[in-house]
Amino acid sequence: MIQEPASHQQETGPDAESQATRRDADVTESSRANRGWWDRNADEYQVEHGTFLGDDRFVWGPEGLDEVEAELLGPPEDLKGRDVLEIGAGAAQCARWLATQGARPVALDISHRQLQHALRIGTSFPLVCADAGALPFADASFDLACSAYGALPFVAAPVLVLREVRRVLRPGGRFVFSVTHPIRWAFPDEPGPEGLSVSASYFDRTPYVEQDEQGRAVYVEHHRTIGDRVRDVVAGGFRLVDLVEPEWPVWNTSEWGGWSPLRGNLIPGSAIFVCERD
Ligand SMILES: C[S@@+](CC[C@H](N)C(=O)[O-])C[C@H]1O[C@@H](n2cnc3c(N)ncnc32)[C@H](O)[C@@H]1O
Repeated sequence: MIQEPASHQQETGPDAESQATRRDADVTESSRANRGWWDRNADEYQVEHGTFLGDDRFVWGPEGLDEVEAELLGPPEDLKGRDVLEIGAGAAQCARWLATQGARPVALDISHRQLQHALRIGTSFPLVCADAGALPFADASFDLACSAYGALPFVAAPVLVLREVRRVLRPGGRFVFSVTHPIRWAFPDEPGPEGLSVSASYFDRTPYVEQDEQGRAVYVEHHRTIGDRVRDVVAGGFRLVDLVEPEWPVWNTSEWGGWSPLRGNLIPGSAIFVCERD
């Protein structure tokens, strides 16, 4: 059975002309497909989720965990004057919050259209259109890096991204990133009870691919088990200092694709990796 993508916007489903399958997709094909998908779907994504995300909140995922309470990047008073790279920034909501804390953010995304939404909302910091696998910055340019569901769920070579992030961080720097919790791969990505029964192997790493009639990928999502992610972090040159699995809060009654209060109360939906480099 084809597993529906976890961070894909399920309410829209695959593009009308595309077909969902499971097959390999390399670095280049994954990047090209996802750049196109996010360019085509950015408008709908921002209409659908912009209110929940807020223009200048730092939300780690559909549970609504806010950096104000989580402090995964450190105490807010320590953010002042820090150079922070946001990867897969979308409309740069997180970077905007960082700027309000006195940090100096740079928001990077592969999708030009997502960054146009960042411009529409307004920015006082640089926006960079680039692939997380080839960061256009000098070594040791940043104190901190963060990514809320940006890049990592979509790339074929996560270690490449982690090594790039390590390279642009200064010694002692921290990288915090959230992804779909790997356990979700084993369940249908449905918010209701049908999303509570295992339907696929957690251990099957074959990417989820939507392809057009010519067989060209138009959307790709890559699965890593929890163990894979830990090994990726270490192979990328980081120490893993925390792995946060946000619990579904009582106040959050919203659904986001397959994330819902029903499922959120039973199984984790997001995994947040807190990593440091020496
Ligand atoms: C689920 S959105 C998250 C954005 C934002 N944090 C939010 O919550 O709306 C994923 C973002 O990652 C970006 N992205 C996907 N693959 C990427 C890559 N290889 N390099 C940089 N950004 C990428 C997409 O364009 C999209 O804006």
